[in-house]
This record gives sequence, C-alpha cells and structure tokens, in this order.
Amino acid sequence: MDEILTRIVSIKEAFQQNLQAIQTLKEFDDLKVSFLGKKSQLQALLAEMKNLTVDSRRVVGPALQELKAFIENTIEQTRQEFVEKKARSAIEKEQNFDVTAYKPGISFGKLHPYSQAVEEIEDIFLSMGYEILDGPEFESDFYNFTALNIPQDHPARDMYDTFWTNKKSMLMRTHTSPVQVRSMQTKQLPLAAIVPGRTYRHEAVDATHDFMFMQCEGFFVDKDVTVAHLFATAQTFLKQLFKKDELDIRIRPGFFPFVEPGFEIDMRCPFCTQGCSVCKRSTWMEVFPGGMIHPNVLKAGGIDPDVYSGFAFGFGLSRLVMLKYGIDDIRHLYGGKLRFLEQF
Ligand code: FA5
Repeated sequence: MDEILTRIVSIKEAFQQNLQAIQTLKEFDDLKVSFLGKKSQLQALLAEMKNLTVDSRRVVGPALQELKAFIENTIEQTRQEFVEKKARSAIEKEQNFDVTAYKPGISFGKLHPYSQAVEEIEDIFLSMGYEILDGPEFESDFYNFTALNIPQDHPARDMYDTFWTNKKSMLMRTHTSPVQVRSMQTKQLPLAAIVPGRTYRHEAVDATHDFMFMQCEGFFVDKDVTVAHLFATAQTFLKQLFKKDELDIRIRPGFFPFVEPGFEIDMRCPFCTQGCSVCKRSTWMEVFPGGMIHPNVLKAGGIDPDVYSGFAFGFGLSRLVMLKYGIDDIRHLYGGKLRFLEQF
C-alpha cells in the first residue's frame, strides 16, 4: 500500500512539472490524455485496486479519487487562465499598433475618378467666378417639381422616374435643379453657382443608365444675362475639361419646363474627326442641356423676372466622366473593383 501511495505522490509531482512547461492550448489536451487517459499511470493504479486488501482500498481509493479530481480541476482552471492571458496580450498588442508605420510594398489609395472629375470641374468654374453649392438629396415635391414650373399632373413629371418615399410629398431628388430655387431664396444676386451631386431615378440599369448617378447643375442670375453667356460658358468649360484649344459646339432646341428657351448643347467628339464608336459615327456628342431660366422659376425663387434674367444648365456628370476617361459602362463607377479604380 505504501508503495502505491508513493506512486500517487510522484504522479502528482510529474503532473505539476508538465503543467508548468505548457505553451499551447493543444498541450492541455495532451496532458489530460497522458495523466487521465486509458493508458495513464492513474488508470493503471485504479486497475490494481482489486488486488488490495479491503483496509488498503479504504485508504488508496480516496487518494486516487483526490488525485484524479486535482488533475481535472487544475487542467481546467489553468487552461482558462491561459486563454484569458492570450486574449489580454492580443488586445495589448493591438493597442500598441502604430497606424503610421510604413510597411514596404503597401499600396496607397487615391481619389475615385468621380472625385477627381468633380475637383477638376469645380476648379474650372471657380476660375470663372462661380461658387460651389450643395443641396439635399432627400427633397420635397415642391423644390424638385412645382417650383421648377412642373405643376402637379404636368406630363413632364413622367420624364423623371421618381423614387417616392413614405414621407408625404418627399422624394429622392431626380436632378440637381431643385438647388436653383433653394439658392435664389437664400442668396444675394448676382448669383453664379454650380452644384455637383447625386441624383436618383427609378430606371432600368444598363451601360449608360443607373438608378443613382451624378449631375452638375449650374446657374447664373443677374441683370441682362443672355443665351450668349450660356453658350460661351458651355464652350469655355468643355474646352478646359477636355483640354482642347478649339472645340466646336452645336446648339439644338431642347425642352425642359424650367427653361425658356431650352437647348441641347452638343460638342464635337474630342476623340475623332471622322466619327467613332464613342460619338456613334456622328462626330457630335450631346453633353450640356440648358436654357434661359423660366420667369416662373425666378418668381418661385423670389426674383423679379422683369428686372433679372439668368441661364441654367444641368449636365450628366457621370456621362461626362465616362467620356473623359473612356469608360464604357456606368456600372463600373460604383462597382468598387480595384482593378478598375487603379487605372485612374
Ligand atoms: C435634367 O435632369 C435637367 N434638370 C437638366 C437641366 C438643368 C436642363 C437646367 C436645363 C436647365 P435630363 O433628364 O436630360 O435633364 O438629365 C440630364 C443629364 O443627366 C442627361 O443628359 C444625362 O447625361 C444624365 N442622366 C439622366 N438620366 C441618367 C441615368 N439614369 N443615368 C446616368 N445619367 C443620366
């Protein structure tokens, strides 16, 4: 019996030594197997019990049960402490992470082609004395339609496939034109501003149409503003954007209820002289809808149309970005694919 009790003590010592050497979680499982498993010394001693006298069993039995419980509890508790210590040190490591550290081979981000184009467009208009304005994308029926001379039930509302919302008379703006009246109501004259921004239409998406796209509104209100100012502005802007010393523009009539007269201003294709796939072999590209601000719109903005006049335009910024960079599908612009974005 004494010999068994001595073996129990040495098993316990060996267990404690092994426990101290543990480095990984898996080693806890291995330790459990080697000290409690079928082939362990403890199991061998339990099997030997049947050879002992009843009196010896009364002493050895509880000693073996105590050893077993000690090994189980100690492994469980130490394992728990080990896991917590690991988690703490991971957090500490993260807290000490240097966000400014340079990692060789790291690739730096750059501006999205939209942001690059918006910056360029803003610079061109700033150089012509325009200011940059912003307006809400969640807009009221009044500013999006009514104030722009598109009353309720006017068929022109059908031109704008509107995303209505469950808030009464509120919608996602279908164009940037609502900012015209908003700024007439709050700003001093003369007023010259552009408004680049997101717009929304409930449209089937294809290579040239998206349900969310960018437009850029522009307007100039003062005394004696004429269509000549509009055409000169369009030409100056397009020449600078497409980096052309000479650029023809062509003017056709166009209908928008908020301008009178209204125009579609086309520019000569900057990519060819004979016709190409971009201009659909016509050498002309439709880029710049605009016109003279309708007297009703000036009135909605609190401006006397007998004293003041103005022009407005609202071009598809997404389409212009596509033309400028030769992008053939509007969906790339919001696709987020790095292989596409890295080209700009
Ligand atoms: C308008 O939205 C007018 N507000 C423009 C305007 C402003 C005219 C001021 C006169 C004075 P239109 O619906 O044609 O007009 O849209 C203008 C441009 O937005 C189009 O020429 C086109 O380039 C772009 N566009 C329209 N729908 C989409 C679409 N679904 N996806 C991408 N671009 C679009």
